[in-house]
Amino acid sequence: MARCQCDVTDARRLLNPGPVAIVTTSWRAEANAAPVSWTAPLSMGPPLVGCVIHPHRHTADMIRFSEEFAINIPGPDLLKQTAFLGSISGLQTNKIEAAGLETFGAQSISAPLIEGCLAWIECGLVDVIPVGDHTLFVGNVVKVQALDEAYAQRWLLNERKYSPLTYLGGSHYAVVSEPLEAIVQTSAEGSLIAETAEEREAREEHEATERERRQAEGEEGFEQMQRAERSGEKRVF
Ligand SMILES: Cc1cc2nc3c(=O)[nH]c(=O)nc-3n(C[C@H](O)[C@H](O)[C@H](O)COP(=O)(O)O)c2cc1C
Repeated sequence: MARCQCDVTDARRLLNPGPVAIVTTSWRAEANAAPVSWTAPLSMGPPLVGCVIHPHRHTADMIRFSEEFAINIPGPDLLKQTAFLGSISGLQTNKIEAAGLETFGAQSISAPLIEGCLAWIECGLVDVIPVGDHTLFVGNVVKVQALDEAYAQRWLLNERKYSPLTYLGGSHYAVVSEPLEAIVQTSAEGSLIAETAEEREAREEHEATERERRQAEGEEGFEQMQRAERSGEKRVF
């Protein structure tokens, strides 16, 4: 397999696929919302999270003035609304209204929460740190809510609709899917056993079933082609 050399700016895209956050803010009876994909948990005790936002964004000013913000985590049903909120500034437009989004009151802060999201994190601002051309807004988590269908101590990923939206760059998004559990076993020498005997057996069984399925599909396709040729039908492949 070939390795390609990427640009240094590709680091941000390679690290992207965390959940997209829609950051909501409120200041002097005005509310705003903007997608922010550069977010990170920063501390457990106290519970701190960070949002990295360009200082030119209206959201950056709204956070500085109000000293609070909410992180709303959308699923695929809010794909277009998320992209729309990231396409214009809230300085002159009420984006929440223009996107047709409903909101509900937060429990501890004044920023509105977006209806239809999967989870909501309310934060008070505790630090503002310039980092390169962006600003890291550090929030102290004061309240967290999540849909039962989506989250129970971890993202459940049982249903696409309740799986968080992640941002790949440009107009490309994805949903986080297929939960995997890592059961780590080591040999007597302490090395990782990458595949146990049972896992190998299960994999080989799965591969054999897949081979049979492909073979059966191939034979069926061939028979269909022969029937079509015999009856003088045109082939469309
Ligand atoms: C999916 C997505 C993720 C984004 N992530 C960030 C981000 O992490 N930081 C940032 O400063 N801007 C980010 N942006 C850009 C802002 O959301 C965009 O400039 C928005 O219009 C700002 O709105 P505002 O001026 O009302 O705050 C993102 C845009 C999209 C579509």
